[in-house]
Amino acid sequence: MAVLRSGVQGLDRLFSAGGFYAGDSVLVEGGAGVGKTTLGLQFIVAGIRDHGEPGMIFSFEELPQEFHRNSRHYGWHLKDMEAAGKLDLFHTSPEDLVKEMEKPGSALLRKIEEMGVRRALVDSVNPMHRLHPRRDEMRQILLRLIKAFRREGITLMLTLEGGGERQSDESLEHYLCDTVVLLSHEIKGGMRRRRLLEVLKSRGQDHVEGRQLFLITNEGLSLLAPLVQIKPLVPRKHVASTGIAALDDMLGGGMPHGSTFLFTTDGTASLYPFFIALAAAGLAAREGVKFTPSARNSFHDIQRFLMDHSYDISGLAQGGQVRFVDYYHRPAPGELKPYILDVSRMSLAQYRLAAARLGRHYKASKLRWRRLLDVNAGIDRFGAEEFKAQHTARIADIKARGDLGLLFSVPAEMDPRTEAFLRYTCSGVVETWVEDGYQFLRVSKTPSGRVSDPGVVEVTGERPFVKIR
Ligand SMILES: Nc1ncnc2c1ncn2[C@@H]1O[C@H](COP(=O)(O)OP(=O)(O)OP(=O)(O)O)[C@@H](O)[C@H]1O
Ligand SMILES: [Mg+2]
Repeated sequence: MAVLRSGVQGLDRLFSAGGFYAGDSVLVEGGAGVGKTTLGLQFIVAGIRDHGEPGMIFSFEELPQEFHRNSRHYGWHLKDMEAAGKLDLFHTSPEDLVKEMEKPGSALLRKIEEMGVRRALVDSVNPMHRLHPRRDEMRQILLRLIKAFRREGITLMLTLEGGGERQSDESLEHYLCDTVVLLSHEIKGGMRRRRLLEVLKSRGQDHVEGRQLFLITNEGLSLLAPLVQIKPLVPRKHVASTGIAALDDMLGGGMPHGSTFLFTTDGTASLYPFFIALAAAGLAAREGVKFTPSARNSFHDIQRFLMDHSYDISGLAQGGQVRFVDYYHRPAPGELKPYILDVSRMSLAQYRLAAARLGRHYKASKLRWRRLLDVNAGIDRFGAEEFKAQHTARIADIKARGDLGLLFSVPAEMDPRTEAFLRYTCSGVVETWVEDGYQFLRVSKTPSGRVSDPGVVEVTGERPFVKIR
């Protein structure tokens, strides 16, 4: 099926087909001055200028002179296009437009044929609603008009004044048009106006969800590129899996060896399923796994949950593949005790010696290590400044060894400067929070620059016991 380019930089990539399907109807809705006319003109002008697709513009209220003036501002010379037989502007009435489009052999249809019109703009469609007071009748009239353009193979763009205060979800046009694009603007921080574009629907193809920032400049509308890279930058063999397929995808394939990722929670959302799934994935990949659990998690639980993944961690600890660090002097299963480094009562100097010993174990094991660490535990024990110093050294060591650092934290429990420091120094950040009774997760930073839309976290009865959709 033929696809038309919109002419708006960055807009076509929001559609999986790469633009609008030929013959479809596209509704552009928004409040006053959001850029509806500009987008419509740009669509028509791009057709003529870049794709050899002649166009027509219909308006009921605005005079052709107004389109000429608005277009000149963007350097689009409609008069030249008209003179070249590529464009026609009609100031007409809703009655006449419907009649002319429907009457076989009408002057308008002959003109369409003669010019080979491929694109049309109706700016705006609102006055059409005067044609009939009844919604069902109005629906039929609009539907007939849309179908008449489709019959001619014309891709039709309609602008609709709405949005803002007016509740526009009920607009007939929303149901009748194949694609709906909403434009809006908001004032953020009392400063610059932020212009936003959102694709509400697009029949027969997938589209990117969410609001996209755009600008209006002397060249018309253009969408700003979000902080996303579509393709993963790191080849798969250099990345480690999180154990959760959807999370690997959100991260652009997984976690590159040598990097440190920060997992945060709002305090309500649980990080524990991720802690366990990440550990199990490390064991599955024959990596060493070191646990420094939070105050809330017991060693008994860790043992039990990894058993659900079919891992006997006491056996693995005996074999040197698993180690534990305890900041809280917790009770632990006897068979794990020899492998738990209890730092709860150590002085800083003793801790440093013990950490160095653990480092030698990493080295002797010849394994890559997945180092899971509860940040708040570290800060509780040694204070933020000492923790930051340890963190910097740890990141460098992880990078040098090709290990993985997996940090878990509740930012609300730490001071904002420490939080900012962690976000800045870690190569990736994964956030989870609870809203309206669902747990959400979003990747807000990765080494490749990729960020994700929020997904919903579901705890399931099957390995890895956590799913993101
Ligand atoms: N070069 C530019 N830089 C920034 N803004 C611009 C530039 N040129 C035009 N604009 C603004 O872009 C907006 C777009 O106007 P446009 O007529 O496309 O909106 P509209 O949605 O059709 O409005 P209306 O509801 O009045 O028909 C205007 O408010 C205009 O001030
Ligand atoms: Mg307008």
